[in-house]
Amino acid sequence: LAVTAAGIHNPLVVSLGLSALAGLFTFQAIPVVSGVFVAHGRAGKDLLKVGTPVIPESMGAIAGVIYIIAMFLFIPVPFVKWFRESSFALGDGDLVFPHNKFAQVLGGLLALMSMLFLGFADDVLDIRWRVKIWLPLIASMPLLMVYCVTYGGTDVVVPIPLRPLFDGKLVHLGIFYYAFMAALAIFSTNAINILAGVNGVEAGQSLVIALSIAANDVLQLFRNPSRAEAHLTSLYFVLPFIGVTIGFLAHNWYPARAFPGDTYCYFAGMIFAVVGILGNFSKTVLLFMLPQIFNFVYSCPQLFHIVDCPRHRMPSLDPKTGLLNPTSFLIPASPSLPARLIIRIFSATGLLRITKRDPKTRAPLAANNLTLMNLLLVRIGPMREQNLALAVVVVQAACSALAFVVRYGLVRWVYDV
Ligand code: UD1
Ligand code: MG
Repeated sequence: LAVTAAGIHNPLVVSLGLSALAGLFTFQAIPVVSGVFVAHGRAGKDLLKVGTPVIPESMGAIAGVIYIIAMFLFIPVPFVKWFRESSFALGDGDLVFPHNKFAQVLGGLLALMSMLFLGFADDVLDIRWRVKIWLPLIASMPLLMVYCVTYGGTDVVVPIPLRPLFDGKLVHLGIFYYAFMAALAIFSTNAINILAGVNGVEAGQSLVIALSIAANDVLQLFRNPSRAEAHLTSLYFVLPFIGVTIGFLAHNWYPARAFPGDTYCYFAGMIFAVVGILGNFSKTVLLFMLPQIFNFVYSCPQLFHIVDCPRHRMPSLDPKTGLLNPTSFLIPASPSLPARLIIRIFSATGLLRITKRDPKTRAPLAANNLTLMNLLLVRIGPMREQNLALAVVVVQAACSALAFVVRYGLVRWVYDV
């Protein structure tokens, strides 16, 4: 096992230790700072509890800051070998300090810190959707720049079935590859933020995605030693995130005593974009985000205002039964043609249930909001909040299992591996 060579193992052990500490600190810090956050208005109502108690919001800021501290302490660790040799000169050879790798770590951290700041700004200022959707684009700029100067490759391998359409095995995407990476950052951040609103669901899904990325990294370390550096860098970024997410989730799981805020959602999404871009495995990261892709595509008619989109699309609590029910959007008396088409197609495929009809004309007046969680409630029936959060986590884990089958099994049909 080439990767077990001396020098590679140690930073990983340090990273694991720091990640555990970061998790522990997050777990301890949240109850301590909660009161301060509430006193300064950083709080939200828990809408799915009787009496809507006030819960400290934007706790992603605490998880994020502790993550950044752990990463800052970790910065020198993978480079200790070169500190000992004091070989910082530019040039070729093993002894020369790996400026490229160093720039990647710093670029990744810069992107994460920008996202943390912009996420917190959004929580405080409640930035409009049409503006805030672009914040991750700004935060991903340092990352794209570092990718350009350190790696720069924009060739992608054409899948076997599509090869007759192209000249060779590789296609040069150029600027479009950068557009794809920027789109990945915009998608992953916003996608976590819209699969939200039930205790534990934002951190729960992020934990499963992060664990899947880490498992894939470890697998790749053994299967593909030539790419070991990229997957080690990914592990260095993702392990402390797993730590702080577990520390936060302990307070965020039902009944929540802390809310993530957009700060956490954006931060989590940016972690996935950073490792996908720096490690050059963004397609695999997207495979681990199948529920988010589904939830986003399914949400599109509401996000693009083809049908009505209420401020909150989360399920609602029936105080009599203690169960969550799907919520609905209103259908106008004469919907537009695209709206009518979507309602018809979605109803026919079981993706939409009309929840209210005109008693006389039978015309549809309301239908369930187009989110994965509402769909689960429509298909399975009303359930308790903690069970719905668990259902999302189970769906996420099942999709990860499927992603591993596709990545390591079915891939033979599409790429020559
Ligand atoms: C996104 C969703 C919105 C969803 C909201 C829930 C879209 C387009 N937007 O909006 O439909 O309702 O997230 O986070 O899909 N909250 C709870 N329990 C929780 C978590 C959150 O009641 O477990 C409530 C709290 O009142 C909290 C608020 O949701 O203050 C946070 O909402 P916010 O993050 O501001 O909503 P958006 O991200 O704008
Ligand atoms: Mg949010």
